Formats: sequence, structure tokens, C-alpha cells
Amino acid sequence: MKCCHYYEFTEQGDQVFSVDVAAIKFGPGSLAELGSDAQELGLKRIAIFTDRVVAALPYLETVTSALRQAGIDFDVFSEVHVEPTDRSFKAASLYAREGRFDGYVSLGGGSVIDTCKAANLYSTYPADFETYVNAPLGGAQPVPGPLRPHIACPTTSGTGSECTGIAVFDYLKLKVKTGIASRHLRPARAIIDPTTTYTLPATVVAASGFDVLSHALESFTAIPYTSRARPKSPSLRPMSQGANPYSDIGCEKALQLTGKYLVRATRDAGDREARDNMMLAATLAGIAFGNSGVHIPHGMAYSVAGLVRNFQPPGYPDNEPICPHGMSVIVNAPSAFRFTAPACPERHHIGAQLLGSESLDAGAGEAGTVLAQRIIEMMQATGMPNGIGGVGYSNADIPNLVEGAYAQQRLLQQSPREVSRELLSQLYAGALSYW
Ligand SMILES: [Fe+2]
Repeated sequence: MKCCHYYEFTEQGDQVFSVDVAAIKFGPGSLAELGSDAQELGLKRIAIFTDRVVAALPYLETVTSALRQAGIDFDVFSEVHVEPTDRSFKAASLYAREGRFDGYVSLGGGSVIDTCKAANLYSTYPADFETYVNAPLGGAQPVPGPLRPHIACPTTSGTGSECTGIAVFDYLKLKVKTGIASRHLRPARAIIDPTTTYTLPATVVAASGFDVLSHALESFTAIPYTSRARPKSPSLRPMSQGANPYSDIGCEKALQLTGKYLVRATRDAGDREARDNMMLAATLAGIAFGNSGVHIPHGMAYSVAGLVRNFQPPGYPDNEPICPHGMSVIVNAPSAFRFTAPACPERHHIGAQLLGSESLDAGAGEAGTVLAQRIIEMMQATGMPNGIGGVGYSNADIPNLVEGAYAQQRLLQQSPREVSRELLSQLYAGALSYW
């Protein structure tokens, strides 16, 4: 078992951590300043990536008029697939290559921002699709160098994708989610305007808010960076370094904000204090997990989302079954944190406290139970599915869910306790229902 203590240095363990962040502009009205940011980056012809839902909202007009006023040419790609796939990444990359753009703007949720990262990558360094995809599903080749400037403008308070170098997609032939990870994928800038979340449906606010909560908790409880082997060369130090003193700052603040505001932001679209603060929490957690890494709940989520049948929550496209990312994560979280708590009970206890748990006197042996209970209370208060059973899975599905999750070794290796196939079966069984 690995302890979450930074001062237990070992002979082979790393003693160095790095901090990579996008330049960030945050606040109501910041989106209208986009033209000036694009000018500072020297951009002349921009591809704007968005999806059909966002394209019908006024924010796209804010972006295009800001670019027009700055005298910058642009074209709009509004066909981003929500929960993107290898097929939709390829279509976006083809558009980017043919358009000969010198920069990119993404306006939307994580799906849009991730698609823009992939399109920027494959148009700048064309290669077979598998080349840069995470091992073992892809070749995991390093991205050869810097990409063109990408200004990410999130319109949901969730993924934190504007702050990370990760792009996630559904690999259709394998029915599993995986991704591409490189520091070069991190957007050059993020313009985070919380007014874009004021019109979001409650289910979207809740699902994306639980993504934030789990980013922060997973990063906070990940293996400490000092227990990961020292890289052979500094350039090989991974983005997912493990928990470190810098990511802890973002995690703790994001957990406190999520505990205070997630339920309020979900229940009342007019509660601007709550919606603004959830946007800030998403950004802080994004910076944190982009430098430390997530673990079991996200590893388990990829197959929960990838194998979904007949599940269509309100507020999402209704043309195909979908388990939104944040929902697919949080249905595993109570089960996963009950398991990880014995590795670092203090951190699980702090997490529960920051989220607003009232069981403050619980002993170390109860940290996992207390944390799980607080997450479950918040799930019930916001209409989340009751575990993976609430998304439509039963005991019979567990072997297939395990196969998809076990492939996520990049994430599972960040867990403070070792994860086998058998253990994943137990964790999915524990996640079937919570109340
Ligand atoms: Fe996530």
C-alpha cells in the first residue's frame, strides 16, 4: 500500500514536480475580449469549433463579432460530436487540414475542446490515427512539437479540458473510451466566461459538477509524486505526476466550492453566485488533475459510458443512448473511495470535510464510508442515477465493464492501492446501487 506522504522519499522515487498551466482569463464578459487575445497570439485565420447546440446559442455570435472587430478571418465547424469518437475526431482533423488555419478557438464543453485539440494535432503533424493514442490501444508516440495556438472557451462547468493536455474519445471498434495525452495538446489560452453556463439544463450542471468533484478527489488521493519512479530524463516526466503540493491547492479549493455550490447551481439556474463558483471550481480542478492525474472512478467510467444502452438523461441529445461523462464517473466514486481510503485515510477525511460532511468526528477507519456517504447525499440531492444500476447495468454486465476499465492502466496506476481485474469486479458490484 502506498501512503500519501511527500516526505517518504525512496531511492528510485521522483523528487521533482512541474506545474504546467494554460494562460487563463476568467470572469463574466471575458468571452467578448477574445479578439484581443487572438491578436496577441498573432492569429490571422481561425477555425472555430463548436457543436450544434452551442451554435444555436448567443455565445457563438459573441465570439464571431469579437473576431470580426479584431479583423481576424474565421470559419465555423459546428459538427462536433458530443462524446466524440475516433470517427468524429478524424472528420474534424480533415476539416482542419483542408482549411489551412493558423489558430483555433473551441467554444463548448469538453467534447468540443477535446475535438479541437485532436484536429489541431492531426492537421499539424499528420499521422495514422493510432499513432498518438494512449497505449495499449494505440502507439502512444510523443507529439513531435508545439501545435498551433488554441484558445479554449468552455461553456460547461465540468471537464477542465481547457487546462489539460488530454483529449478523450470513444474508440468505436473496441467500444471503449481512451485518449491522447501530451503537454502540447494543452490550449495556449483559456477564456472562461461563467455567463455561458447560465442557460445550462440542471442535469448538465449536475453531471459536469460531479466530474469536477471527482477530478479534485481523485487528484487529491492519487499516489504521491514521490512514489512514482524518477524518469530517465526530465523530458519523460509524465503530465500525470501523482498528487503534489501544487495540485493539492486546486483540489482543496475545488472540493470546498463544489461542496458549497453544486447542489445550489443544479437546483436554481438563477443562482449566479453558485454557477460562477462551479465554473471556478472546474478550472481549479482542471489545473490540478492536469498536473497530477485521476484514477479509479475515471478508469471505471470509460466502460460505463462506452457500453451504455437505452439510457438518455434529460438535457442531452436524444438521438442515441448516452451516459454523460460526469455521470459515468460519479456512479463509481462512492465504491472506489471506500476502497482507496485505507491507503490515505487523512486525505479521504479532509475530502469529506471540504465537501461539507457533518460526520466530523469519524475515526480514520471510517474515512471511506463518511466520504462515500457525503457523495451519495449530493447525488440524491441532484437527481443522479442510483449507481451503475441506475444507468441500466446489472451483475451480468460486470465482466464486460471490467475489461474496458482494466485497459485504462494509465489511470489505474495512479491509484493509491493496486487494482486487479478481480478487484474491479468487486468495485462494480459495490457500485450497482447506493440507496
Ligand atoms: Fe473527467
